[in-house]
Amino acid sequence: MRKCNKLMLIKNSASFQLVNCMSKPKVYVAREIPERGLKIIKERFDAEVWPEYAPPPKEVIMEKVRDVDAIASLLSEKIDAEVFDVSPRLRIVAQMAVGFDNIDVKEATKRGVYVTNTPGVLTETTADFAWTLLMGVARRVVEADRYVRNGLWKVGWHPSMLSGRDVYGATIGVVGTGRIGSAVAKRAKGFNMKILYYDVIPRPELEKKLGAKRVDLDTLLRESDFVSVHVPLLKETYHLINKDRLNLMKKTAYLINNSRGPVVDEKALYEALTEGWIAGAALDVFEQEPTPVDNPLLTLDNVVVAPHISSASHETRSKMAEMVAENLVAFFEGRTPPNLVNPEVTQVRPLTRLF
Ligand code: GLV
Repeated sequence: MRKCNKLMLIKNSASFQLVNCMSKPKVYVAREIPERGLKIIKERFDAEVWPEYAPPPKEVIMEKVRDVDAIASLLSEKIDAEVFDVSPRLRIVAQMAVGFDNIDVKEATKRGVYVTNTPGVLTETTADFAWTLLMGVARRVVEADRYVRNGLWKVGWHPSMLSGRDVYGATIGVVGTGRIGSAVAKRAKGFNMKILYYDVIPRPELEKKLGAKRVDLDTLLRESDFVSVHVPLLKETYHLINKDRLNLMKKTAYLINNSRGPVVDEKALYEALTEGWIAGAALDVFEQEPTPVDNPLLTLDNVVVAPHISSASHETRSKMAEMVAENLVAFFEGRTPPNLVNPEVTQVRPLTRLF
């Protein structure tokens, strides 16, 4: 708890009592996060919540952070040096997401600001959605839905109506085998798939349990029927899937991306899809979000799209919100937040009980 500069004398019936004047830390919550986390934050802190569905504009963030001890942020808030410059009081940014490419962690660390995220809880939900996308594009589910609704289903059954590609027994290439990529690979085992993976770190457990084979990226792209991307957005992964790499893929292959949009060069992807270099793509993430409605990719039937909802199950989003609260409570109680992204920050500003 933050200590006030003065102690207060409070009169009760019998005597004067010395009360240590402590105020709750102020937390700016950048959206109505699920109740399970919000309730704790409201109970434990002096919380202000941005009430709108759309994210707070940067000016609002700049204004609010002047006077808060913490921000509970989402992916949509850019928390950069500009924000840190106007927030001398800010001690922690608690993000409700596993990814934190919207936060300049280096700048945060330099200024002694702790950064936390919500890993783990969303792994299975996000892996499930990668598979939803994969199955959806391979078996043309969204196209089939439109076909029926738009009155195009005029013949009861036809041997080649909306034929897709088999998933069972095919080859999947998992790009990035952190928690989510590994969970995607595990599911592939149930589909009797050959599993290739590309990662800077070898994963002997995947090799042993699933028979997964570590290959270089070019080999993975050449040999896979489904390429599923699960890398964080870093300088090194920006446009990792570019024109040259799309060109290596099989004409019958599909690209799945539910990591970060800028990992795939969308212009090159459009070319690949329209020139027949690959069979289709399924995307939950885009270079710009929300993606403009005139994004040319949205005109293609062999593209399945979703609005960045891979971790969006009621259960998981509630748990994520709770983790945000837990990270904040731990920090202000002087404990290491369970999901600290920048542990080196403790050298800059050691933990101390703040309430
Ligand atoms: C969602 O994209 C996340 O990083 O949690």
